[in-house]
This record gives sequence, structure tokens and C-alpha cells, in this order.
Amino acid sequence: MIKDGIIAENIIKSFGTPPQQILKNISIEIELGEFVALVGKSGSGKSTLLYILSGLDNPTYGKNFLGGYDLTSIDDASIHRLRNQAIGFVFQFHYLLPELSALENITMPARKRNLHKQAEEYALHLMEEFSLSHCKDKFPSQMSGGEQQRVAIARALIQKPKFLFADEPTGNLDTSNGDKVIDIFRKINKEEGTTIMFVTHDMDYAKAAKKRVHLQDGEILKID
Ligand SMILES: Nc1ncnc2c1ncn2[C@@H]1O[C@H](COP(=O)(O)OP(=O)(O)OP(=O)(O)O)[C@@H](O)[C@H]1O
Ligand SMILES: [Mg+2]
Repeated sequence: MIKDGIIAENIIKSFGTPPQQILKNISIEIELGEFVALVGKSGSGKSTLLYILSGLDNPTYGKNFLGGYDLTSIDDASIHRLRNQAIGFVFQFHYLLPELSALENITMPARKRNLHKQAEEYALHLMEEFSLSHCKDKFPSQMSGGEQQRVAIARALIQKPKFLFADEPTGNLDTSNGDKVIDIFRKINKEEGTTIMFVTHDMDYAKAAKKRVHLQDGEILKID
């Protein structure tokens, strides 16, 4: 029986020739509604693991499941739908579209599904929650790094995904903006029940999560 959360079974990821194992036999289970920090030194494999667990990349060996789907054997249409509707991803460098306003960037994932009008209402709500109302019509180049990052998070949340993945969402932010991002995560985890997994170097932020997965040289050192 496949559960609805995130399950990784004996994940190995290799890169290069000769192949070098970057993830070495990772197994992990994350239940729906969990709030997890992924920590470890630079190069330990955090981004690689996050990409695999979220279905952005495939493991070399092993299996991983999300929301009851086997991501290692899912067809293209289903992974597309899952990624658009059930999974939000915040990249370390936020990749906002420069020619679109903050509001347009946030509603972008919903545009693809022609749900743009309903999405706009929720986008305005998220902007208010994230202290972004003044940025509604601004382009990314007219916003601060912290504002851009919050826009990227709102964009990841616009479809009310069950799963939110974030790769160092606080990495380029000062303390006050970093704190804001973590507060947002805490709130949506609590109020919406969103399953969250985020990568961080900062132990103070990791402590905000309910569980910490420590990676070292491609292996899970401990979970606390
Ligand atoms: N596409 C790739 N091809 C070859 N090697 C890769 C590739 N992606 C990652 N690696 C290597 O895998 C290792 C882990 O990379 P990864 O990006 O997962 O680390 P990380 O823990 O996220 O590090 P950081 O904290 O610096 O972001 C690194 O040694 C990296 O050079
Ligand atoms: Mg990384």
C-alpha cells in the first residue's frame, strides 16, 4: 500500500563518467502535513535529493513516491499535472519572469489552466499576507530580493499545492526577510496542512521545522 506522503526507497544518484555516487542509498518517509528541514554541508546532496523527491529529476536507482504516485514510472502527462497542481517548488534563485508584474508572476501557474480569475483573488490575499500589496504592479527588477523571494513563494502556493519544496529560500536574504519566509512556511503548514520540505544552512531556521534530515556525503546522517 503506497501512502500519500513522500517515500524514497534506496535512492542512488550518480553523475559523470566514471559515475560518481552523489546520493548513496537514501531511504526516507515523510508523512502528509510534515514540516521538514534538509540540512548538511555544501555538496552533501541536498539540492539533488530535493529535486528527486519533488519529481524534477529521476534517481539512477531506487524508487520514490509522492501523493501515492510512483514518480520513477509515472507518465509525462501525469507528472506534468502533479507538478502544476500538487507540487510547489521555490528555487534558490527565484526565476521570476522579468516581463511580468508581481501579480502576473504569482498567477502564472493558474493561467496555464485557465483559472486565472479565481487565482487572482487568492494571489491578492497571499500578497497581503506576505506584505507584498505595494508590489502588485511592479516588475521583478523594481522589487527587493526579499520581495522577489516572497513573490516566488506566493507563485509556488497559488494552486494550493499539497507539497511545497524550497531550495535555500532564505539563502540570499537578510535576517528580517529570512524570518518572514520561515514564518510564512510555519503558517501555511499549520493552517493549510501543506507538507513542506526546505533546504537551509541555518540551524536557527532548521529548528523552526518539526523534523530535520541531516545529509552528509550523500547519506542520511541522522533525523531529529
Ligand atoms: N548535474 C550534475 N552533474 C555532475 N555533478 C553534479 C550535478 N549536480 C550536482 N552535482 C554534484 O553533486 C554534489 C551534490 O550537489 P548538490 O547540489 O546536491 O549539493 P548541495 O548539498 O545542494 O550543496 P549546496 O549547499 O552548495 O547547494 C556536488 O558535488 C555537485 O558538484
Ligand atoms: Mg544546493
